[in-house]
Amino acid sequence: MKKEITVLTYGTFDMFHIGHLKLLQRLKELGTKLVVAVSTDEFNKIKGKKTLIPFAQRALIVENIKCVDMVIAEDNWEQKIDDIKKYNIDIFSMGDDWEGKFDFLKEYCDVVYLPRTDNISTTQLKQELNSFLDIYEK
Ligand code: CTP
Repeated sequence: MKKEITVLTYGTFDMFHIGHLKLLQRLKELGTKLVVAVSTDEFNKIKGKKTLIPFAQRALIVENIKCVDMVIAEDNWEQKIDDIKKYNIDIFSMGDDWEGKFDFLKEYCDVVYLPRTDNISTTQLKQELNSFLDIYEK
């Protein structure tokens, strides 16, 4: 019988975009099961990040992406090792903007950084929306 290979990733996934979708699809290809930890609004506040879309909606969107098998909440910096043990994670993976930042998890599972999709991010979308409103609301 084929062994299950479980992949874990973390993210905010605010204003869900094509970079998010492509990352999730490539993450699933690394294994057979994909668990996504979506950051809560409270945790984003701690990080100094304000989300446009509330947690319940961000989590529901991610949960309903075809390649995603399970969504959990991320509400603190310290939970990763416990999550890896709790969900029997084989591969921890993130976009390469995080390159090297999670190498300490190599003690518990494989750690893989995937290339990001070029020219899109939530920050960029927010900036473009601001410029759009500047132009059209004058
Ligand atoms: N990601 C990606 N390609 C992009 C944007 C994001 O592969 N163009 C990945 C990130 O590397 C991360 C995951 O998607 O592993 C969730 O990223 P998140 O921070 O939620 O999205 P960003 O668009 O990077 O948001 P922000 O601009 O707020 O940092």
